[in-house]
Amino acid sequence: MIDIFLISSSAERAPHIVARLEESGVAHCLRTAYCTARQLRTHARAIRSADLLIVDDVDLSAHELDGVEEALACSPALHCMLVTQAPSAALLTAAMRVGVRQVLSWPLDAYKVATVLTHIAAKKSAGMRRAGRVVSFASCKGGSGTTLIAVNLAWSLAALRDRRVLLIDLSQQFADASLLMANKPPPATLSDLCSRIDQLDAALLDACVMRVHANLDVLAGAGDPLKAAELRPEQLKQILTLARERYDAVLIDIGQSLNSVTIHALDHSDAICMVVRQNLLYLHGGRRMLDIFKELGYPPGKVRVVVNQYDKNACINLPTLERTLGATVAHQLPRDEKQVDEALNRSVPLVTSAHDSALAQGIRLLGDMLWPPIAEPRKGMLGRLFAARPTVPPQLKPGH
Ligand SMILES: Nc1ncnc2c1ncn2[C@@H]1O[C@H](COP(=O)(O)OP(=O)(O)O)[C@@H](O)[C@H]1O
Ligand SMILES: [Mg+2]
Repeated sequence: MIDIFLISSSAERAPHIVARLEESGVAHCLRTAYCTARQLRTHARAIRSADLLIVDDVDLSAHELDGVEEALACSPALHCMLVTQAPSAALLTAAMRVGVRQVLSWPLDAYKVATVLTHIAAKKSAGMRRAGRVVSFASCKGGSGTTLIAVNLAWSLAALRDRRVLLIDLSQQFADASLLMANKPPPATLSDLCSRIDQLDAALLDACVMRVHANLDVLAGAGDPLKAAELRPEQLKQILTLARERYDAVLIDIGQSLNSVTIHALDHSDAICMVVRQNLLYLHGGRRMLDIFKELGYPPGKVRVVVNQYDKNACINLPTLERTLGATVAHQLPRDEKQVDEALNRSVPLVTSAHDSALAQGIRLLGDMLWPPIAEPRKGMLGRLFAARPTVPPQLKPGH
């Protein structure tokens, strides 16, 4: 199924294009906007999730391709087709320069349209789909740092590891992940998306997420415990299936609630990061949470215990913590109030504002542990000769 966005300056011509698309026999989902190429920017968001953009504007001149150029710059995989009356040489050159793949004139050649659609569909199914790894972040008690870790990991994977990342805020109380990521309200929340789940497709998901970086989207939490309680596991299932196809990494901020929806998220996660602190209440709750994970049948390797705000002088040291929890600590992150507060006040992620701090480095290491770096394809002999020395990742073992 390919997503097509049609911009047409004429309600009379558009049906002819639609007919040619249907004759192609290629499964597609079509959205149409009636406007000129100059008004293309108003549909930037919807265009971003399309595979093919068709611009039908008979009056288009070579100087009016700015919107097309911008759309193609934002989505390099987007295929753009112009439909014009009789394109001038200047328009043809300008169109090709901005990245338009085809310029077709009226009457539309059905064979040409079908060839383009077949090509895009084949390219999409031959590997455009991503197989996103889903990791949930949970804790037995508020204030452990679950949100801070999830938000900064998401940033670090998107900005420094060049992964396409989605953070889903599933915390049931007063969801705050989107607040930590941008100083603006999200276009929609998880509960808004669930209320339109029957129409769920790539375009709707794209319209509901807040883009905070070219590679990073956030699906804001319900923001209200009553609304959060209305979410259903089957709704989340559909969102996760689509998210896996469209992102390399999907992070779910579970928060502290265990209910049918959060358990569904945990069941369908590739790994669970359980955040604890060195304090009796976290120990007690953490142990209980790990027992529940065992009862749910999760293999021990699926759950990674992370100690946040680690203090090597605390009464509850790592051996005590591991003994009580009956699990090994996979990683620990230091306390750094100064950098955390500064990042919060400046509305920037700590992994960039305090890039060299021990906390930011620890978060990056956690990212490598949860999303192991993708192996480079094998190089030929010359490639190996000129390859840079590989960097050996530092050990992730906790220092006892
Ligand atoms: N490693 C850390 N060093 C200093 N402050 C931290 C650290 N981790 C979290 N915090 C602070 O602790 C508070 C709770 O963190 P938060 O991520 O909201 O926890 P949770 O989501 O588990 O309730 C926040 O004010 C956060 O900035
Ligand atoms: Mg939280």
